[in-house]
Amino acid sequence: MEQSLVLVKPDGVQRGLIGEVITRLENRGLRLVAARFMWVNTELAEKHYAVHAGKPFYAPLITFITSSPVMAMVWEGPDAIAAIRQTFGKTRGTEADPGTLRHDFALQARYNIVHASDSPETAAFEIALWFKPEEIVSWQRDIEKWIYE
Ligand SMILES: Nc1ncnc2c1ncn2[C@@H]1O[C@H](COP(=O)(O)OP(=O)(O)OP(=O)(O)O)[C@@H](O)[C@H]1O
Ligand SMILES: [Mg+2]
Repeated sequence: MEQSLVLVKPDGVQRGLIGEVITRLENRGLRLVAARFMWVNTELAEKHYAVHAGKPFYAPLITFITSSPVMAMVWEGPDAIAAIRQTFGKTRGTEADPGTLRHDFALQARYNIVHASDSPETAAFEIALWFKPEEIVSWQRDIEKWIYE
């Protein structure tokens, strides 16, 4: 099982897309194991996006992610990291494949609705940054025997 940090970013929250994001991940067969609706402070934003510090889009990205509440979640499942990034599509809405969330709901780069961890190492770092260990709920659904091989 893999875990991934998923954020519905301020644009997704403002546009009423929290349910859409959750529905797509539930439909995929993934399991929600943590969630918190919250306003991100600059300190957390800068730690989360430290990898992008110095890039031209960094400062507006920090302003954006702290501009309105976000829905922070942890989702898990087999190959969860690849599955979630596939469901969300490429960073830019105009480059995301048809049918992906970003294709269906975004046009440009910054306002792209969601964040998802991009590797197991990143996921471990991000989940520890956003959630305490006791906030991660360990559970199973009866239906999983028909989803997970
Ligand atoms: N060229 C750009 N112009 C403006 N904003 C950008 C650009 N590239 C990335 N961003 C913003 O920074 C975020 C992080 O960039 P990254 O390259 O990690 O994209 P990603 O991995 O597809 O998205 P995320 O990390 O949010 O899942 C993007 O999701 C987007 O909001
Ligand atoms: Mg990224």
